[in-house]
Amino acid sequence: MISVLPGIPAVDCSQIRLEIQASQPRLMEWRRHLHQRPELGFREQLTAEFIAQKLQEWGIEHETGIATTGIVAIVQGTAPTSQPKQVLAIRADMDALPIQEENDVPYKSLHDGFMHACGHDGHVSIALGTAYYLSQHQDSFAGTVKFIFQPAEEGPGGAKPMLEAGVLQNPTVDAIIGLHLWNNLPLGTVGVRSGALMAAVETFYCKIQGKGGHGAMPHQTVDAIVVAAQIVTALQAIVSRNVDPLNAAVVTVGKLHAGNAKNIIADTAQMDGTVRYFNPALEGFFGQRVEQVISGICQSYGASYELNYIPYYPPVINDESIANLVRSVAEAVVETPAGIVPECQTMGGEDISFFLQAVPGCYFFLGSANPAKNLAYPHHHPRFDFDETALSMGVEIFVRCVEKFLSTAS
Ligand code: NI
Repeated sequence: MISVLPGIPAVDCSQIRLEIQASQPRLMEWRRHLHQRPELGFREQLTAEFIAQKLQEWGIEHETGIATTGIVAIVQGTAPTSQPKQVLAIRADMDALPIQEENDVPYKSLHDGFMHACGHDGHVSIALGTAYYLSQHQDSFAGTVKFIFQPAEEGPGGAKPMLEAGVLQNPTVDAIIGLHLWNNLPLGTVGVRSGALMAAVETFYCKIQGKGGHGAMPHQTVDAIVVAAQIVTALQAIVSRNVDPLNAAVVTVGKLHAGNAKNIIADTAQMDGTVRYFNPALEGFFGQRVEQVISGICQSYGASYELNYIPYYPPVINDESIANLVRSVAEAVVETPAGIVPECQTMGGEDISFFLQAVPGCYFFLGSANPAKNLAYPHHHPRFDFDETALSMGVEIFVRCVEKFLSTAS
């Protein structure tokens, strides 16, 4: 697989790689099966059945129905070790999106209006491939690998309920890893870094209540559009004036609805937005500041407001030592230091952050774009698709992480 990439020489003929590459047709088959059957968060029934059926077939111990459709599977290592046995978790998200697929491929979505447009079908396939490989090579590691198949990453969030259901206990997880196929990076690269990788995701819904009236008699009204416009502008000053410039943050008002006619002053305005930041120290800050701005402006214009501010996901913060482990393994897999991309931060969010708050771990991006094959559309696009060569690379990285983390050496 590596040899097909321009500029990347040599093929690692290690047994692990040869065997995993040989499983590529099955990884693709599973991915395509799932791609044809996309399901939204907490409704991943067919996906969960497929995963459970495979685990059952391979004799892998597992529990289904966790936080609705989540599954936890366990593969025990049998290698002898004098060290205390550790537990490494591997997390894969399972859900799809409410998007109509526009790709004309044999494995196109069979579910009208729904699509695996983020690559989570690939994540499940990679985790299954890893579970299968490790179940066939239990003597290659000591300790335990726990696979967490998680629903609803795209929303409303399945990591937190799985955490609350105790998936990091019995046995207690020492570290967690996970990956996202990533079309922002070319095939053959891995985005990995310690510290912040992805942003916190907070959302707000705000209704401004003014007083409507004739467009020519504004003195008799409280113009909700004028109030909303002031708020949209003032919210931008939170990042530029209240946050340390060295801390990246975003406030976006993505929706603003008000008014019905050019000569009628709107009595209400609905304004919804999203907030992103990396620094965990900013938790709570934006919720408070956004409300202060809205409240102050409404008061000055005689309007009132209803605000629903929801902190969805904390930032994705990688542990330094686990990130170093993933980086060293990834370097061996992509075979060139240039294939490791530490400048891969994104203001996108991911609820693996809840797991990473609970145990040290590393979430990383597996490059999956291949413009030469027209596989470079962005995530969540109706024509999103990725280079499936990345599937066996993902399995190899996970397997090598397991064998390194759960090594028999001290
Ligand atoms: Ni995703």
